[in-house]
Amino acid sequence: MSDLQKLFGLSGRVAVVTGASAGLGVEFAEALASAGADVALLARRKERIESVAERLSADYGVRAFPVAVDITDRAAVREAFAGVAKELGTIDVLVNNAGVSPTGKAERQWPEDWDNTLELNLTALFHCCLLAAEHMRAGGRGGRIINVTSIFARLASSLFRVSAYVAAKGGAENLTRQLAVEWASDDITVNAIAPAWFPTEMIEESLTKGGIEESMSAANPMGRIGRTGELKTACLFLAAPGSSYVTGTTVMVDGGHSAW
Ligand SMILES: NC(=O)c1ccc[n+]([C@@H]2O[C@H](COP(=O)([O-])OP(=O)(O)OC[C@H]3O[C@@H](n4cnc5c(N)ncnc54)[C@H](OP(=O)(O)O)[C@@H]3O)[C@@H](O)[C@H]2O)c1
Repeated sequence: MSDLQKLFGLSGRVAVVTGASAGLGVEFAEALASAGADVALLARRKERIESVAERLSADYGVRAFPVAVDITDRAAVREAFAGVAKELGTIDVLVNNAGVSPTGKAERQWPEDWDNTLELNLTALFHCCLLAAEHMRAGGRGGRIINVTSIFARLASSLFRVSAYVAAKGGAENLTRQLAVEWASDDITVNAIAPAWFPTEMIEESLTKGGIEESMSAANPMGRIGRTGELKTACLFLAAPGSSYVTGTTVMVDGGHSAW
């Protein structure tokens, strides 16, 4: 095994990615598979995850296991994690990526958007952390939890009205720190990735509106939004066997957006 493989290789490891039917979840699953991990793909759209699984197995020679599940359904997601462990083995890595981002004035986000957003982006994320940690402890070899937050875990958005989203993401970022502290003695690291804007279904409608991409780009030192593929290395770094002393931190993948 090369030195690089010892540091970053994930062969023989099992990763779970939530929200793996589209967008960034597919990118994270692909990054982990490219490092040799077997991957479980969780999302509601069965055909989508089946086709992602087929592609990853063919391209990287790993086992890819699609599990159609709504991760806000607590009983179903518990069963899904048990199914992954049975099919692929002990869970080593969790990427908590599923999320929604409804837009609308704060007054109009109450109560439906608020409830749905907090339930998926924060409560289900916490539940998945708990389930993964249970499996990781049982496996006895520690683990890596990666929560996908946002630059808007720390900042307000001037472009979009996203009260519920910023509240949930801010909560997820601080929860990341707390779990990192509580689970350090189990060798379970808990970190976050905070992206700026990336072109996925989540923002595709906004991108079709005149001037929005220009405004997003103007708010960024690099003068552009993120590109597909630019989140892979952050995921690989936080999932890596060599990152055993990195915990409770957030990797900003934002072209410097949060730096100025
Ligand atoms: N794109 C950006 O600019 C950006 C920026 C910062 C942070 N983020 C964060 O990155 C993550 C991924 O975003 P994205 O842009 O890739 O979004 P996306 O393209 O809209 O994809 C969202 C994913 O979440 C899944 N999902 C939604 N509700 C679910 C549920 N109840 N149960 C299971 N899966 C569910 C969707 O799958 P199904 O519909 O098949 O269930 C889909 O795979 C989110 O947490 C988002 O907040 C995105």
